[in-house]
Amino acid sequence: MARQHKSRLLVTGGAGFIGSNFVHYWAKKYPQDRIVVLDALTYAGNLQNLQALLEQDRIRFVKGDICDQALVESILTEEALNLIVHFAAESHVDRSILGPDAFLETNIQGTHSMLKAARKVWLENPVVRDHHRFHHVSTDEVYGSLGATDPAFTETTPYAPNSPYAASKAASDHLVRAYHHTYGLEVTTSNCSNNYGPYHFPEKLIPLALLHMLLGKSVPIYGDGLNIRDWLFVEDHCRGIELVITEGNVGDTYNIGGNCERTNIDLIQTLCNLVDQAFQAKPELAQKYPDSPSATGSGAASLIRYVKDRPGHDRRYAIDARKIFHELGYRPTHSLETGLAQTVHWYLDNESWWKAVMDGSYSRWMDQQYGTAK
Ligand code: NAD
Ligand code: DAU
Repeated sequence: MARQHKSRLLVTGGAGFIGSNFVHYWAKKYPQDRIVVLDALTYAGNLQNLQALLEQDRIRFVKGDICDQALVESILTEEALNLIVHFAAESHVDRSILGPDAFLETNIQGTHSMLKAARKVWLENPVVRDHHRFHHVSTDEVYGSLGATDPAFTETTPYAPNSPYAASKAASDHLVRAYHHTYGLEVTTSNCSNNYGPYHFPEKLIPLALLHMLLGKSVPIYGDGLNIRDWLFVEDHCRGIELVITEGNVGDTYNIGGNCERTNIDLIQTLCNLVDQAFQAKPELAQKYPDSPSATGSGAASLIRYVKDRPGHDRRYAIDARKIFHELGYRPTHSLETGLAQTVHWYLDNESWWKAVMDGSYSRWMDQQYGTAK
């Protein structure tokens, strides 16, 4: 979708972690574009993530469900939108294991509802028909789990999703593909590896571990800690999505990743070192977070506890990103070390954000996971 025209975007899930980072990224880069965010504000959605843009009236926010096809059609029509960037989803694997239904509803039915609305509004309108795009944000988890020496996932790796979350995302990817093949809807899909960065909800490994290090709570490591994930700073994911939208081939899928495989235990050790270093550099942190072992000199790593493994826990993910590198010139700009350091500083600078989250839906989740608020 070359940028000879201004875009008018609908960002679904734009109050969540990656969606809100994307809205900030796009609003800064393309200040003339119209951005409408549609988000149901589930436990994972947070208007604080968009506060600055809302206060400046830079975006419109609509609270609503992607399963509400009539609502989506009315937004697309009244705002004359020509680009959908579809992030909205149930995203946490552990929740999908405890309760898969919401994942099927939002990720499969919701994506189908979005596709139906786009088809109706865009393909029946000759003005938009030749100039629209439905970009679907998906995950590397659809490809299943790799052995230690297997080659990384490419765009042609067969789908083999293992968790209810991954299966629901795989189904949504197939629907997106089918709407292109059958109806000619102009779609692109990106499959990205594990993200981290600002506004990350603390049910996921990195923000959970980081905040527990500050508060002196145990850092749970599932199984033997040797599962491998391929980490990408969220802003680099946003840049990859932008490239796919502006330069990618309609109907194609693109893997996005940063060649950054780490075992969970290595990743957490790196994070522990960064937190210890932050306390050494800023003595006032010891007063602010007296329960942190980084304050007393015993070190954040003393909080690590090996706990029961996740059922069906995928051993290794790794993205082969050569297609987006070679075809679209994509390059991540953050290493794990710079991205993690930036993340630690963001959480230290935004205590009111995470305290509000931890007082609310986070503590209910911890109760459900561990039987007690940890
Ligand atoms: P998130 O859980 O932080 O945010 C999801 C957002 O979607 C929330 O704001 C929530 O309120 C909203 N939402 C949920 N159900 C909705 C519904 N029915 N209608 C409208 N809004 C709804 O998720 P995230 O980590 O930001 O992930 C965003 C997307 O990126 C997802 O599609 C996910 O599968 C994909 N993805 C995530 C990662 C990752 O590492 N987090 C990696 C690759 C791909
Ligand atoms: O690969 C992309 C996927 O990455 C996205 O599609 C998902 O939406 C996103 O949640 C993420 O899934 P993971 O399951 O990989 O992320 P999570 O942060 O939950 O876990 C990362 C690894 O850390 C995984 O091997 C499980 C482990 N883990 C997780 C938690 C929450 C722990 O060891 N302890 C924990 O407390």
